[in-house]
Amino acid sequence: MTYENIIVETREKVGFIRLNRPQALNALNSALLADLAGALEAFDKDNDIGAIVITGSEKAFAAGADIKEMQTLAFADAYLGDYFSEWERVTRLRKPLIAAVAGYALGGGCELAMMCDFIIAADTAKFGQPEITLGVMPGMGGSQRLTRSVGKSKAMDLCLTGRMMDAAEAERCGLVSRVVPAADLVAEAVKAAAKIASFSLPVVMMTKETVNRAYETTLSEGLRFERRVFHSMFALEDQKEGMAAFAEKRAPSFKNR
Ligand code: HXC
Repeated sequence: MTYENIIVETREKVGFIRLNRPQALNALNSALLADLAGALEAFDKDNDIGAIVITGSEKAFAAGADIKEMQTLAFADAYLGDYFSEWERVTRLRKPLIAAVAGYALGGGCELAMMCDFIIAADTAKFGQPEITLGVMPGMGGSQRLTRSVGKSKAMDLCLTGRMMDAAEAERCGLVSRVVPAADLVAEAVKAAAKIASFSLPVVMMTKETVNRAYETTLSEGLRFERRVFHSMFALEDQKEGMAAFAEKRAPSFKNR
């Protein structure tokens, strides 16, 4: 499958996607969304893929939703077409998704990064929700995911002033899991994804599902869910293999069953 707005590669068990609209700093238009969601869903269904990395260019992960595509949008069309709801396809993936962010991750770019399971940032990364400067507000999850990720004060600051924060501030406030030198970004993200892909795939997927529960439910329901899923793992051959390998002082060989 060839795509116009993204570059798709497989690196052993890692699905790798590079956003590729350099002329618009990877601004997220409908065509890019169709490409990205299609490629992600194909990786999600592929039994040989264990984790996925999305990255952009050195200058921009993505400078936002495509302003030129949006500027003449009428309310009725936005409402009837449920504009931006298609982006939820990214959040329906069951395999882990890592955002590797260098340069600008603004507006929808920051929101796309936050749809991923975690963000690894280059020291050049700049995050922001500048929609207010355009006469709108975040529309792809920013007001909700940023607030849950970094807390009310920082989220209000970013959404109301439209300012950018650098990678160090993003790491301090917990938006990103780690910051690496820009030159190492893709290698580090692929290494993390390869590590994840070396584990039992059903266990990886259940772990993602369970951590995500923390955002969707109460603590007591989340803890019950965790226990039930944890118990169910003892039905997997991979649990027997993982623990036998530890006891026998050898590397495990997971069968994904
Ligand atoms: C469409 C964009 C774009 C965008 C950049 N470009 N961002 N096109 N949508 N979001 C285009 C520019 O128009 C320009 O095209 C080319 O990319 C290079 O950008 P420059 O501005 O010349 O680059 P630079 O001077 O380096 O500035 C980089 C920048 C700036 C600071 C990132 O591009 C910028 O502020 N972009 C917009 C950021 C933003 O507001 N994002 C939020 C969008 S709204 P030409 O053809 O002139 O060369 C959003 C969610 C909306 O994401 C949800 C609510 C409904």
